Amino acid sequence: MKVVITGGGGFIGRQLAKRILARGELAGPSGGREAVTELVLFDAVAPPEGEFDDDRVTVVTGDITNGELVASVIDGDTNSIFHLAAVVSAGAEADFDLGYRVNLDGTRNVLEAARAAIGTPRLVFASSLAAYGGDVPETVLDGTPITPETSYGAQKVIGEYLITDYSRKGFLDGRAMRLPTIVVRPGEPNKAASGFASGIIREPLNGVDMACPVTPESRMAIMSPRTVVQCFVHMHELDADRLGASRALLLSGFSVAMGAAAKAVREVQTNRAKGEITFDIDPATQAIVDAWPKTTQSDKAAALGFPADSNIDDVIAAYIEDELD
Ligand SMILES: NC(=O)c1ccc[n+]([C@@H]2O[C@H](COP(=O)([O-])OP(=O)(O)OC[C@H]3O[C@@H](n4cnc5c(N)ncnc54)[C@H](O)[C@@H]3O)[C@@H](O)[C@H]2O)c1
Repeated sequence: MKVVITGGGGFIGRQLAKRILARGELAGPSGGREAVTELVLFDAVAPPEGEFDDDRVTVVTGDITNGELVASVIDGDTNSIFHLAAVVSAGAEADFDLGYRVNLDGTRNVLEAARAAIGTPRLVFASSLAAYGGDVPETVLDGTPITPETSYGAQKVIGEYLITDYSRKGFLDGRAMRLPTIVVRPGEPNKAASGFASGIIREPLNGVDMACPVTPESRMAIMSPRTVVQCFVHMHELDADRLGASRALLLSGFSVAMGAAAKAVREVQTNRAKGEITFDIDPATQAIVDAWPKTTQSDKAAALGFPADSNIDDVIAAYIEDELD
């Protein structure tokens, strides 16, 4: 079966690709498990040279706003799509037009290409907690109203609605997951406003000093890359009827205060020289973070068998094992 990951050159896309390759099979058109014979990584930026030395992998570099190109990548033979390509939160807020072109028009290109494919391709879409805003409760639950307060959040919610509607019409078999902040993001930070939550772990463990722009008491809902990748695969394999009327599902992120994250990093036993963590509050970032939910709890995701993380020590240990050791 042929699988396409848009955003396949990005942080989650690359980790998801590795997981799918290691697993070797996914639910295919028959509903049963089928071998993944072709995995296309489509992105504006290619993965690092040599990262995917596998005959099943094809790298296509290009722009998701180019409908013809997207239709040639997600062609008639495509069975499954993981749609992750996006301009992330602060990027979409800084450039309104770019955000709508990539996150809305690009998503429509993907959905139209999937609609034109033979059969009913499965599609998993990466949505976000940016779907929530306004008077957001400390703990976001399954029934919390959708009230996006950023362009990025609005684009993600529109994507969810499109997926539910295209699925209702039988054009594709779509599903969307609202991801908490994924920590630890390796490598260079991206334009996500939440980047410091990874930086506070990643930079010190790489010997770099880190100035956290929010107070030690500031809490965020997070999930590890390992767990989110498991969630993507689990969502793909699920019988979508179990999701109910909406094809969008909240994922559970556990709550961590930045002070607790800093303490956990300081306590890591390592031979490597560690960078220092300081708190240097940036009022603009603090205001953004204060408006975010502190934790998310989805009983529905738990009942459907989605995994979740529970503590920062495990998240740090996984980062060290996967990225540093
Ligand atoms: N990482 C998180 O904490 C988090 C949280 C919530 C939702 N998400 C969502 O998950 C998805 C993956 O996130 P990520 O953290 O891997 O981000 P990322 O920035 O590493 O990956 C996104 C990829 O999209 C690609 N892209 C951007 N514009 C494009 C275009 N015009 N054409 C083709 N490709 C383009 C980028 O090159 C990038 O590789 C995104 O949709 C993001 O909104 C991520």
